[in-house]
Amino acid sequence: MIELAPSILSADFARLGEQVNRAAEGGGTVIHVDVMDGHFVPNITLGPQLVRSLRKATKLPLDCHLMIEDPDLYIPAFADAGADWMSVHYEACRHLDRTLNLVKNHGLQVGVVINPATPVGTLEEVLDMVHHVLVMSVNPGFGGQKFIPSSLEKVRKLALMRTARNANFRIEIDGGMAPDTIGQAVRAGVEVLVAGNAVFGQGDPKENAQRLLKLATEATLQRV
Ligand code: DX5
Ligand code: ZN
Repeated sequence: MIELAPSILSADFARLGEQVNRAAEGGGTVIHVDVMDGHFVPNITLGPQLVRSLRKATKLPLDCHLMIEDPDLYIPAFADAGADWMSVHYEACRHLDRTLNLVKNHGLQVGVVINPATPVGTLEEVLDMVHHVLVMSVNPGFGGQKFIPSSLEKVRKLALMRTARNANFRIEIDGGMAPDTIGQAVRAGVEVLVAGNAVFGQGDPKENAQRLLKLATEATLQRV
């Protein structure tokens, strides 16, 4: 099953509830929440308080993508605020196994994220414990960047690794998803498509989400 995860990074924060619900009407089934600390990435976004408000505005699962250093310090607060999925960067965790377990022990669906320059092979030892693997297809920090095509090969490799070890994680991609890139991602094996700018950047989030999902669904028919 293919899911669209609208990323609120490009939404109008003054009308967030309304925009998120519009994207959900268009078929978005997971709300992607980008948390940035100004250290791990050169941008600052939002904290647990906004997640708490969002929790009241939508019933959809909130997918918190932590682009922060020392995630262990903040995982409890985001869990308490109402996160459902939570992913941490391989590059930000000195003790990745411990951090993934911490997320799990808070009752959340745990994910691991890799930057464009990080090879998928480095995740071998944690693939059996995660609910999703998030492949960054841009360097994290900003919405509206250009898709990095080499991420498709990483998605294909991950899908093969999953089959080889009979694992169950979902493959998510984040960055540069737009009408001209979404089909390639689906054909490579992506199941959860994050899209910020393409949903909230301009026009109606409902229509944008519908269009992206239509293209994604058509691409499933062309998978080889
Ligand atoms: C980037 C974020 C993304 C971002 C993607 O650091 O992790 O989730 O919102 O934005 P688009 O879809 O605009 O490339
Ligand atoms: Zn993200």
